Parts: sequence; C-alpha cells; structure tokens
Amino acid sequence: LNYQIVASRQEILDKLVNGLKRLEYRGYDSAGIAFQECFNEDCDCFIKIIKQTGKVAALEQLVSENKDSVDFSKELDIHVGIAHTRWATHGEPSPTNAHPHRSDPHNEFAIVHNGIITNYKDIKSFLSQKGHKFETETDTEVVAKLLKHLFDAHKDQKIKFRELVELTVAQLEGAFAIAVISKHYPGDIVATRRGSPLLIGVKSKNKLSTDHIPVMFSKDHRGVLGASTSRRTDEETEYHSAGPEKEIEYFFASDASAIIEHTDQVIYLEENDVATVHEGSLNIHQATRSLNESTSREIITLKMAIEEIMKGSFNSFMQKEIFEQPESVVNTMRGRVNFDTKTVVLGGIKEHMCEIRRCRRLLFIACGTSFHSAIATRQLLEELTELPVMVELASDFLDRTTPVFRDDVCFFISQSGETADTLNALHYCKQRGALIVGITNVVGSSISRESNCGVHINAGPEIGVASTKAYTSQFIALVMFGLMMSEDRISLQPRRLEIIQGLKELPEKIKKVLTMDDQILQLAKELHQEKSLLVMGRGYNYATCLEGALKIKELTYMHSEGILAGELKHGPLALVDEAMPVLMVCTRDNVFSKCENALQQVKARHGIPIIICNEGDGELLTADCNQNLSKQKNQANCAASDTIVVNCHDGKGTKPQHKHNRLSLSFEVPQIIDCLQGILTIIPMQLLSMHIAELKELDGRPIIICNEDDADTQKLAYKFVEVPRTVDSLQGIVAVIPMQLLSYHIAVLRGYDVDCPRNLAKSVTVE
Ligand code: G6P
Repeated sequence: LNYQIVASRQEILDKLVNGLKRLEYRGYDSAGIAFQECFNEDCDCFIKIIKQTGKVAALEQLVSENKDSVDFSKELDIHVGIAHTRWATHGEPSPTNAHPHRSDPHNEFAIVHNGIITNYKDIKSFLSQKGHKFETETDTEVVAKLLKHLFDAHKDQKIKFRELVELTVAQLEGAFAIAVISKHYPGDIVATRRGSPLLIGVKSKNKLSTDHIPVMFSKDHRGVLGASTSRRTDEETEYHSAGPEKEIEYFFASDASAIIEHTDQVIYLEENDVATVHEGSLNIHQATRSLNESTSREIITLKMAIEEIMKGSFNSFMQKEIFEQPESVVNTMRGRVNFDTKTVVLGGIKEHMCEIRRCRRLLFIACGTSFHSAIATRQLLEELTELPVMVELASDFLDRTTPVFRDDVCFFISQSGETADTLNALHYCKQRGALIVGITNVVGSSISRESNCGVHINAGPEIGVASTKAYTSQFIALVMFGLMMSEDRISLQPRRLEIIQGLKELPEKIKKVLTMDDQILQLAKELHQEKSLLVMGRGYNYATCLEGALKIKELTYMHSEGILAGELKHGPLALVDEAMPVLMVCTRDNVFSKCENALQQVKARHGIPIIICNEGDGELLTADCNQNLSKQKNQANCAASDTIVVNCHDGKGTKPQHKHNRLSLSFEVPQIIDCLQGILTIIPMQLLSMHIAELKELDGRPIIICNEDDADTQKLAYKFVEVPRTVDSLQGIVAVIPMQLLSYHIAVLRGYDVDCPRNLAKSVTVE
C-alpha cells in the first residue's frame, strides 16, 4: 500500500490489516505488517515490523499493543506499508518465520513475498559466507539479505531503488511476487513478479488522466536484433512514468479482494514487470522487451461487488456459496445457452472451434476440485466430441513429462487461475505448440491471461477454501463445450436436446436438493464422530464420489475415500464392516444395476450404506435391507455399545492409551532407476498393510517412504438422501450438493472453521 494523501498512520494500518482480512480466505497460518516511521523532514526513518502467528485478529491486537512505541495519530502526507499472510512452506508457522522479512537488525529493507525461491540455499550460503546472519528458516529471507548486500556494494553509486530490486531478482530462481520497502528510500515501494500474481489498485479522488500506464524498457528486443529503435534511458523512464497525480493511493496486492473496497481500478502486472512508486508517481519497468510484449499496462475496471465477498446472513462463506448454486449455474450459462433456439455459443472459444474440432486429442489438466470437474464430464465429452479425452492432474502430468503435440488442445481448469502446478503445465504445453484453453473463475488471473482462448465460469468470487459453486460451474462450462463441439452431428441431436433441457431444469432441481439441508444435518449428527467414511459410485458419479470424499476430508479431517464401485472387489471391500459408513450414489443411469450390485455386496458385509438415489428409489434400494434390518439393527446396536471392541487395537476390548506418544516413522528404501522405484516403495506398503491387519493399530501419524539417507525428508443408521432426476450426464451436479452440505455440517459439528480448513490454502501458488 502506498499512500499519498494526508492521513494518520492508524488509518494506513487499518487499511493494511483490513486488506489482510479480505485475503484470509486464501488460507494462512501467520500474518505480519511493516511500515515506516519518519523522524524528521529529511525522513530519517526506520521500519517497524510487527508479526504474529494465527489469525489476522491476533496481529491486529499486537499492533494496538504497540501503540505506545509508535505515534499512530501522526498525520503524514506520504506513506508506505506492507503486510502479508503466510501459508508455511519453508519453516514452521511462527512469528519469526512470518513476513515481512528484514535485511538486518536495523530493518534497512523489509519484504513480503508470495511464491517460492528455489535457489535460496545457494544464496543463503553465499550470503552467510559474507557475514549475513539469518534468523528464519524461510526462503524469503535471502531476498531481504541480498537486497542489503547489493545495496552496500553499490553505496557509492547511489543506486536507484528499482535498479537495486532488479539486480536482486535477477539472482532469483523460482516463482515470486514481492514488495519491498526500505529506510533508504522513504515513502517508496518497489514490487515485481515472476510466476506469482500481482496487481496494482489505483484510487484517485479525481478522474485518472490516463487508462494506460506505459511500460519502460531498458533494452528493446528490436534493439537487440538491430532494427531501429528508440532505446530509452533510465532518465526517460522516470519522465515517461504515469506522472505524479495528487491525492492518489496505490495498492499492491496478490488478489483483487484485498482492495475492492477501496477501488475497482486495477492494473495486472505482467511477468518481470517492476512497478515503482517514487515520490507519489507510479512507473512500470521491464529490463528487456521481449517479442510481442505490450508497451503499456491497461487500467481495468473490476466487475466485483464488495457484497460478493461478504458473508451476508450466512454463517460461513462455504454455506453461502453452496446456497448460491441455483444462481451461479445460471450465471455460467447466461448469454451462452439459448434455450429457445437450443444452441450454445461460448464466445471465448468460438473463433478456435475449427482448430479444436480438427485436433488429435483433448487434454484436461487441473488440480483438486477442478480436476474432479474434468473427471465428471469426461464420459460426456468422449461421447459428444468423439475424440480421445485425457484428464490429468497437473503435478503428475508434469512429473511424467507427458508427450504433448502441436495438434493437441489443452484445457486448464482452475477456479483461481493461479494454481502453480496448473500454470506450470500450461507453460509446458504452450512451449510444445498446443492450443491453450483456460477455464477459470477469476477474470485477469494468470491462466486466463496466458491462454490462447477460454471460458470464464462466472460463478462469482469463491471465498471458502473448499470449492463448491466453482465445481458445478466448471462442470457446466465443460458440458457447454461438449454441446458446442457436437452442434453439427446429426446423430447426436436428440442427445444434445436432452442435455439442453436438463440444463434448463437444473437451477430448480438444485433448489430442491438444497431443501434437504435439515435432513442432511441429522445425518451429519450421526456421522460426525466417525473416523472414516467411504464414498462410492461409478459412471457419471465417480467424480461425485471423489469430490464428496475430498470435501469430507478437507473440512472434517475425517478419513474419507472416493471409491469407484467397479473397483470395490479389488480392495475397498476389505474396509467394509459393521462399523463402516458407506455413502453410495445410486442414480438411474446406465450403471444403476451395477450400483445395486455394489450395494448388495456392502450389505452382505454388514456395512452401513447411506444412499444418494433418485426420487422414488429410496424404498426400492432399501427394501431387502429392511428385511435384514432387525438383524442389522441388533448388530448396529451391538456395534454402538461395543464401539470399544470394534475399534480396539489389541483385540481384547481395551482402547489404546498411548496415541499421543508415538513417533513418526520413516522407511528407507534403496534408490533405483526412477521407472523401477515403485517396485521398491510398494514393498513397505505391502508389509505395512499386513502388519496393520494383524495389529489393527494405526492412528494417523506420518509414515514416510523415502530413499536411503533421506530420513530427513519424511461408519449405523441406515439412511438415504433422494435427489431429483435429471439427464444422466448432469446428475452429478444434483448429487454433489448433499455431499457439500454433509461435509459442511460435519465440520461445523466438529467445531471446525469451514471457510479456512487447517493446512489448506485457496490458491496454491507454490508447487
Ligand atoms: C486448492 C484449493 C481447492 C482447489 C485446488 C485447485 O487445493 O483448496 O479448493 O480445488 O486448490 O485450485 P484451482 O484454483 O486451480 O481450481
């Protein structure tokens, strides 16, 4: 935040702290703030840094406790401060490891950083040799120390702040968005990005004199190639800056939610842009102009309303977002599906349809919930496109260096548009010449900007870490794509019409499912003490199960597995006994009778099925079970009163007492050529499962399998939930909602924070 308007420091700190609160949804474990304290007109200043673990509220408290040491009422006409919420990657969550990080005990430089510096160990060892003392376990600290090191080395030449930052980041490998302040450059801030998102909010009392900020280049690629160019000097760079506009505030942020309450005018910085605010004026600089590089950055007006990122009358963002789904699915289809003419047009990819229809294959690459949306629609896309469809987890896709060809079309699905693995996979496919299609929710995100074409799902801001409405909207975006691909296929017309009709009825059906909330709450009350919950289905609903299990585990911290019913006999059935709840999706589609089979098998093992089925099918699916009900009830009652026996670890009915004292274990296996390593790593797992079966003892401690010498690195109530019937390929949207509600209620009953589950982040911007 750079502030050039008369204000008290308290006002500035409030803005920084509020900004952090708006970013809380992203997930974090500590927070910090740094601001300048100037002593006199000449601005002999020092930087005050305040950091705390836990919530932003804890930081706020600490800031107010510091009021004695800082004059908070003092009015300033220019001021700069930085603040950050940290999600631990290198080093545990602690006040020391929290950002901002400092260059030295005198706080000459303070920095906030998102991303990861992959070569930090080398830089750290270099700087340690030069006498720099490190106080944190983070990768970020090296940047602060390197700034000071280079500043000291250039002291005589009075290096400009921007140049100093450029020299520093030139040494960095990895991904970053950073913002730096310094006592040597009072009132100034320099921010830059490579791989991680960064935007600038511009708030002005008066209308801005421009809607573009020119970018200054030290070296122009045309200059390098020898063609004529006007190569600008640094002096000119300053001259060509946006110019000092009075009463203007600049906000640097990783995400628009942090600043939307102040301004809707934003500039998205491009790769390697270095933005400087010096004496109240903003300029953007690039060391080298690359091919096709635009010479200015547009000031964009955001279409985000502050209400969209507020909870309103709901208890949590997740609850709000689940209940928004009747509207969010309509927003995804708006202007795209014409229910009168039965046509679908996705404006963002229309121009590329010929190329897409001619492609060799379609690849869908994503992480987490977004990946599940592609699994959910794969079968339909195969049917409607008649092309080979690959659905890939971004991290695994990259690990395998999967072959990609120029005539491939690669879809990158991401709510945030910033997920590091997905973005890396995008770069990988782009380099290989494939057509890049982005499917994102966040307008202006890295994925939407770096794609050749794409679809915004228009679900509205999703704040809850556990994705809900984005999943159903991604699902619909992919269905719409399938419909567009098949518009000319005569044989597919009846199918298309059936799906379009299904889309039309969808919002009402979602509303109907949402009326089951109380019923689901009752079920949650019965399940919330369970240790484990299996979620099983097949066909179109396999993805529903994966997604349902993901919701359960990420919100409730219960063990939960999404199981393909076709694989039941190949392992998961071993988990089924009278104490195991199994949530089963059994809707009327081409695999209904196969699902009934799986249900029989679960019942035969006295498992406790909870069924998600179509309206009218509840009785049918539970009928023969009810015949066994008294028998089962006895067993269930017995199981309830004998829980100790069921869960006992020594087979004698005694509960284990020693859970808390157990050590983490690691198993070291020899290193072998990568493609054979799996043979070695599976063996400890085989042994482990054998011993667990014998001992029945496992209590959630980490057990790591790694290479030699790498030790360092290391359900009964019988229930059903009925959902409305819809066309088979859309059934998953209706069926996933009870799962969203169930995981929500279980989490609430367990007393957990449903919007910010522990250890998870909304945007995973590191690999
Ligand atoms: C994180 C979030 C998930 C999300 C996944 C992929 O794990 O907690 O809710 O599904 O990232 O994120 P994306 O923004 O790429 O969809």
